[in-house]
Amino acid sequence: MSSAATSRALAPALAPGPTPAPAPVGHDALATLPRPRGRDLTPAELEVFVRELADWPELWIEHVRHDATQRVYEELLRDAHLTAWLICWMDDHDTGFHDHDVSAGAVAVVGGRVREERLTIGRSPRSRSFAAGEAFHFAPSDIHRVRHGGGDPAVTLHVYSPPLARMGAYAVDDEGVLARRPMTYAEELRAA
Ligand SMILES: [Fe+2]
Repeated sequence: MSSAATSRALAPALAPGPTPAPAPVGHDALATLPRPRGRDLTPAELEVFVRELADWPELWIEHVRHDATQRVYEELLRDAHLTAWLICWMDDHDTGFHDHDVSAGAVAVVGGRVREERLTIGRSPRSRSFAAGEAFHFAPSDIHRVRHGGGDPAVTLHVYSPPLARMGAYAVDDEGVLARRPMTYAEELRAA
């Protein structure tokens, strides 16, 4: 938890003193969470922001819903420099390999576990597993795949800057030729 969130949690124990500020709620509150303003965020800044967002379940918990047949998406925020999504995962849910066009991104796991793989040539994908409380980030040039990590259903928070508009989905044909299919963010990524 961030130092700010820790301060909030400790404030009641420091009486007498001012009453702690109420937790922010709703879209407006999410839009006012601390982050660099007036420009796009770097991958590292996105990870700081998504970790902060993870500390405020009031802002996203109502959208958690699991569906065994498909990932559940909910857009939490879209403005000039940032988009934020909540995604719920189960069982064999898998994005397949993709990029985010010009957007950098970061992911915080707030429930369960997901696995991220980076596309490699001539070797097995680099694979990392992330559990609740952990986060990672990526640059626009990175090609990755995210899937449910097994066990309990998972919940993740995703932030992108500039706002996610387009992606590229990767597939290998019968002759081993790799191809990129451009797509909009509104289309669902699926494993090829
Ligand atoms: Fe992604």
